[in-house]
Order: sequence, then C-alpha cells, then structure tokens
Amino acid sequence: MAENLVISEGSKSNKYSVLYDQIIRVMEGEDDMIANMANISSMIHQTFGFWWTGFYRVDGESLVLGPFQGPLACSRIRYGRGVCGTAWKEARTVIVPDVDRFPGHIACSSASRSEIVVPVFDHDGGNVIAVMDIDSDMPDTFDETDKEWLEKIAAAFRKCQE
Ligand code: SME
Repeated sequence: MAENLVISEGSKSNKYSVLYDQIIRVMEGEDDMIANMANISSMIHQTFGFWWTGFYRVDGESLVLGPFQGPLACSRIRYGRGVCGTAWKEARTVIVPDVDRFPGHIACSSASRSEIVVPVFDHDGGNVIAVMDIDSDMPDTFDETDKEWLEKIAAAFRKCQE
C-alpha cells in the first residue's frame, strides 16, 4: 500500500481524482471497515485541510463516533438529529453552506461554519451503515464536486462487506 500521500496541485476535482485513486489502492489491501475509515479520514483531511473529517457508524438508534481527524467530537447522535442524523434518516447527502441556518445543527465545535454529510450504504445499497462527516471552518465550502467525489469514496466501502 502507498506510504506517502500524494496531494495534487490544481482544482478541487484534480485533488479528488488523485486522492480517490490512492484511497482505492489503500482499500484494495484491507477489508476492515474501521481501518479503512481511519486511513480515509486522514487522507481527506490532509489533502484539503478541513476542520474535521470523520465517520459515525450506525449503532441501533444512534450514530456512534468512528475514526476521525480533528478536534474532540460528540460521541453519539440520535436518529434524525443534526446534519448527521438527517443524512442517515433521509439516506442522502446533506450539504450545509451555513451551519447557523440549519435547524438542529449539532455544534461539536463552535469553529465549524459549513458541513457535508454523506451516507455510507451497505452492500445492497438498501441501508445506511455509517455517515462520512466533514466540517469546514469557512462558510460555503462544499458543493456538487465534493458531493460527487465523496459519494464515490463512500461507495468504495461496499467491498468491506462482501
Ligand atoms: N455537526 C454535526 C455533528 C458532528 S460534528 O460536526 C463532528 C451534526 O450536526 O450532525
């Protein structure tokens, strides 16, 4: 597996493209979901310098904190609560350009200004098993380019459940 992360110059798409290939190579060598979540958090975080990058896993009626990079975070989030619980309940990516305008946003860190949460589906694509949560300390950080690439990264987790 790759030992050094290569971070591309150029546009956001270029960065995601180079990052994605490295993520796939890392995941080819490992089927354990937690190990892959840990490395993916690190790789995304280093590439873009986001405020917080990580995963919450579905555990019964709540999400429980998984591997992440960044400041201390809430350990559990109830179904339908906050941005993460909403993405889980609605089984779709949620982009929040301004967290102060998202009713029920859970402020794990007061520095967080915008956020994207992407569901991770099970092998059949029927159930959400986790969410990938990324926070920025700048407003309006995330757009359709982030959604497209992060959904591709989330889809790569299906191999961990074969
Ligand atoms: N802001 C999230 C909670 C998780 S932290 O940002 C890491 C939410 O509203 O679900």
